[in-house]
Amino acid sequence: MAEDLLIQQGTKEEQYQSLIPQINALIEGEPDLIANLANITGALKEQFGWLWIGFYLVKNNELVLGPFQGPVACTRIRKGKGVCGTAWEKAQTLIVPDVEQFPGHITCSSLSKSEIVVPVIRHGEVVAVLDADSINLEEFNETDRQYLEAIVEMIVF
Ligand code: SME
Repeated sequence: MAEDLLIQQGTKEEQYQSLIPQINALIEGEPDLIANLANITGALKEQFGWLWIGFYLVKNNELVLGPFQGPVACTRIRKGKGVCGTAWEKAQTLIVPDVEQFPGHITCSSLSKSEIVVPVIRHGEVVAVLDADSINLEEFNETDRQYLEAIVEMIVF
């Protein structure tokens, strides 16, 4: 049974270090993918308070909206489109300090100013992306990349 998340104050690194074992406890032993993705978005939203955090899943060669926390979002994104579709196409994490400077950025919320998109790669294929959006410019950095990549590694797809 899930217990309340322990919210950590401190540096970003300290926050992730407190969060990762809690995410592990939430998803370990639970085989349902959607349940696990949902709890990961809940934990990240609670800890960091970002505007939007969620997964898009690759289905029939499109990204389709999965579990998320935050305002309603676009449901489908094609390969190479927006930050999510580009992270999928390149199979690499993208950090966007200012979304207005990213050609083709897909605006789901006018409040979003910066974002990070982390692909989930299994057997050499991108199966999903994790997208986090912030109301602040330059919210995300290498620390987010390191820990969000570690978090998506924990998911059994
Ligand atoms: N900003 C994304 C679209 C998804 S939403 O922000 C939730 C993009 O350009 O890929």
